[in-house]
Amino acid sequence: MNAPLNIVILAAGMGQRMYSHRPKVLHALAGQALLAHVLDTARALQPDKLIVVVGYEQAQIRARFTEDDIHFVTQAEQLGTGHAAMQAVPLLDDRWPTLILYGDVPLIQIDTLKRLIHTTSAITLGVLTTCLDDPSGYGRIVRREGNITHIVEQKDASPTEQAIVEINTGIFIFPTAHLKRWLATLSNHNAQGEYYLTDLVACAATEKITINSQNPSHSWEILGVNNKTQLAQLERILQRTRAQQLLTQGVTLADPERIDVRGSVHCGRDVTIDVGCIFEGKVTLADGVHIGPYCVLRDSEIAQDTQIFAYSHLDSVTVGADARIGPYARLRPGTVLAHHTHVGNFVEIKNSQLDAQTKANHLAYIGDATIGKNVNIGAGTITCNYDGANKHRTIIEDDVFIGSDTQLIAPLTVEKGATVGAGTTLTKSVPAHSLTVSRTKQTTRTDWQRPSKKNKS
Ligand code: UD1
Ligand code: MG
Repeated sequence: MNAPLNIVILAAGMGQRMYSHRPKVLHALAGQALLAHVLDTARALQPDKLIVVVGYEQAQIRARFTEDDIHFVTQAEQLGTGHAAMQAVPLLDDRWPTLILYGDVPLIQIDTLKRLIHTTSAITLGVLTTCLDDPSGYGRIVRREGNITHIVEQKDASPTEQAIVEINTGIFIFPTAHLKRWLATLSNHNAQGEYYLTDLVACAATEKITINSQNPSHSWEILGVNNKTQLAQLERILQRTRAQQLLTQGVTLADPERIDVRGSVHCGRDVTIDVGCIFEGKVTLADGVHIGPYCVLRDSEIAQDTQIFAYSHLDSVTVGADARIGPYARLRPGTVLAHHTHVGNFVEIKNSQLDAQTKANHLAYIGDATIGKNVNIGAGTITCNYDGANKHRTIIEDDVFIGSDTQLIAPLTVEKGATVGAGTTLTKSVPAHSLTVSRTKQTTRTDWQRPSKKNKS
């Protein structure tokens, strides 16, 4: 059931101080566009309508967010936050209140918004405020006898008003019919020549409509991104909160300052993560998994007690229990490793399955292969899966031994229990329990002498 709520996200600003061709709200925080964070939070409130006001480079934003629950509206010229809100008016349902969020304030938390919503009735105005040691740049909350009378922007504020430390976070919940009526009366007679959404607070006060204020649960929730310094600061804040969540759940982190979760990581008990690891997409680590330093894991599932050693890179893979991966392993999409497999240094695996107890311990490329149980893949083995036009599969059955420096020119099958001698180039399939070697015969001349350098005449 959708909540009786309209949400409007203001995201038309250009973000001049990002010095970028990209609109500000597309810059990434923890691997996701700023606007994506705000949309996720907004969706958690299950609004009846979700509206995003776009302007600068809007085509890029519309192309990135194609989900059909989003209603985009255009603000052709950026004439202020009030003007931005006006563009959403035709879509707002008068029956529900309207929550205003900013596309560049990505860390706002669901519980803070719920508190603001639940403490605001259908006919009152809610504003999220907070007190800052340095309030400069923000709109100030002006109160008389404790009641909010209006908001004054920094550039319009008198020295007395500038001394006020309670600021407007920019997040409001409005009774929608009043919002529409007040927006129609807005003017831009102020220091910036803009239509200020904040002026609506004075309209409410004049009409004796109750103005309720709430504070965010954490001071960092209301921080905005205007430049790359702030973006980096918010990244750290977000990563710290994610690291803290993992610690709280019982995950051992070698250093909570040195982990980056750019998606989600779900951990069982007794999971250990060493420094410098990056998690992207959806990663699941079962009980007892150990991740060594500087590993990158994306969209992968690791079963219990598996150890992944330093500098390994896993993208869209499934690893069974008690496996050992790395150091320096590269596992690409479609890799499925069963339990007790070993994949060592400088082994690249793509779109291949390795069954239980199988080992590829050093320097190999395994692509488009189906490999059975208890197989040994020697150092330097290459599945030659690509003929320049098409990819072909290599099938290696249970208990096979592939000697070092073997090339398997796919398509072919090495049947159960076969042994392939080191240095072999396989061009056709090999029968079960056989030995196959292709090597030029080794010759030795004992009468041979190394040439010596001739004297110049
Ligand atoms: C605004 C508030 C200020 C508050 C501060 C909190 C007003 C007049 N002032 O100021 O009281 O303390 O936020 O961060 O509202 N936007 C548009 N179209 C526009 C202008 C802005 O979509 O024409 C969007 C921006 O993309 C941004 C948001 O609105 O997401 C806020 O705009 P910004 O220019 O940063 O407002 P501030 O001057 O910071
Ligand atoms: Mg701002």
